[in-house]
Amino acid sequence: MDREHMAADLAQVLLTEEQIQTRLAELAADIWRDYEGKDLLLVGVLKGAVVVMADLMRALPGTAPMDWMAVSSYGSGTKSSGVVRILKDLDADITGKDVLIVEDIIDSGLTLSWIKANLESRSPASVEICTLLRKPDVVKVDIPVKYVGFDIPNEFVVGYGLDYDERYRNLRCVGTLAPHVYA
Ligand code: XMP
Ligand code: MG
Repeated sequence: MDREHMAADLAQVLLTEEQIQTRLAELAADIWRDYEGKDLLLVGVLKGAVVVMADLMRALPGTAPMDWMAVSSYGSGTKSSGVVRILKDLDADITGKDVLIVEDIIDSGLTLSWIKANLESRSPASVEICTLLRKPDVVKVDIPVKYVGFDIPNEFVVGYGLDYDERYRNLRCVGTLAPHVYA
């Protein structure tokens, strides 16, 4: 699918490239200040967080290592159940590290609660969460998110790492899809 078709598949652009980059620069500055003197490790959750991680880490005023995890959450259709299986674990031990989980989106928060608890069981110094997007359903679980890019409405969005059937991840904005895409 070419770029022209991809853009034509959007019903609405919720966040422009400029809005996203501006917010990421603010978050990066906050993170750098908060983690001064700490042993920061960025942990990305594949695959959606790839784009956020790439831009967030380059917006940091300094350098920090990163690691990646891939999980699959069993659920009915599009809703996650919170039952999670690790597809790819971290490469390295996180004992004593100040872990910052980098996510693209938190919907119910069930997947992330599981990941957070799992990482906390490995004796890190701390585990916090940074997400570009947060949906309103997350209030149903008690999961503190230290860094949030944007609170968005409860709609399915694509772009900036987020996919529909593995497509649209490379869109530079975040938007909703037009009805003809689902037809
Ligand atoms: P929970 O509900 O456990 O799930 O927080 C979060 C995961 O669900 C996916 N998700 C989306 N993916 N557009 C997407 O492309 C969306 O609007 C959306 N909402 C949830 C995503 O994989 C996320 O990690
Ligand atoms: Mg997906």
